[in-house]
Amino acid sequence: MTAAVRVKILGVGMGPAHVTSEVAAALRSIDYVVAAEKTQDGDTDELLAARQAILDEYAGDTAVQIVAVPDPKRDRSENLTTQRYQAAVNDWHRARAVEYGQVLADRGGTAGFLVWGDPSLYDSTIRIVEYVRDLGTDLEVEVLPGISAPQVLAARHAMVLHDVGEPIHLTTGRRLRQAVAAGQENIVSMLNPPPEQLDLTGIDDWTIWWGANLGATGERLVSGRLADVMPAVVEARRAAREDAGWVMDVFRVRKP
Ligand SMILES: C[S@@+](CC[C@H](N)C(=O)[O-])C[C@H]1O[C@@H](n2cnc3c(N)ncnc32)[C@H](O)[C@@H]1O
Repeated sequence: MTAAVRVKILGVGMGPAHVTSEVAAALRSIDYVVAAEKTQDGDTDELLAARQAILDEYAGDTAVQIVAVPDPKRDRSENLTTQRYQAAVNDWHRARAVEYGQVLADRGGTAGFLVWGDPSLYDSTIRIVEYVRDLGTDLEVEVLPGISAPQVLAARHAMVLHDVGEPIHLTTGRRLRQAVAAGQENIVSMLNPPPEQLDLTGIDDWTIWWGANLGATGERLVSGRLADVMPAVVEARRAAREDAGWVMDVFRVRKP
């Protein structure tokens, strides 16, 4: 019987400054890192470069290599229904599991997956690794937490994400309207479309705390009454992208 492949799913926060000491120790204990490579037409994959920077800083003396796995194609058609969007993402994850499973079976040993932020939030590495197991590879899995984008957003704006004893609703830009319609009054939104495409009808008076490229090149923060600060958000997002070559944003909105 062959030994199980050890898999460490490591939350690395928003970059080298956020790597915890337990993740740093894990980075020195792995044999290789598996990562999807999203490079298209000669563009560099910024997230792959960010993973390399983390390895250089924390495991530079151990020659841990990144095994870049070309990312399977995903149906990115606009205006997919929620059901079709979820089916497209699911197919893509299963295709990734086939690719990752091949690498893990071929290489064995201890593999690391470096997850942006924390593995529990809008990241499918844990799910994909489960699919790899379903496909028949014997795995021993360990997950270590990292600092997530909403945490950095809260810290930068020096705020608590909810009022005393109150809830918070965490969702995606795609489902923001649905959350507002359902009566949510305190929402954190990730995986957002460009701000010009958000439908903000009826929430103009709400307060927004917005951040892009948190902890990374091009970091920008904006806060204020939504209708007043939207032009500043649009401009700050453009500037963040110009500085870094990529942009990711997260925001909290709250009813007054
Ligand atoms: C695929 S999810 C990964 C989230 C990650 N697992 C976490 O714990 O934050 C990517 C989304 O996280 C948010 N995000 C990730 N990095 C960010 C950053 N540096 N600044 C602002 N938002 C970020 C954005 O909403 C982005 O669309």
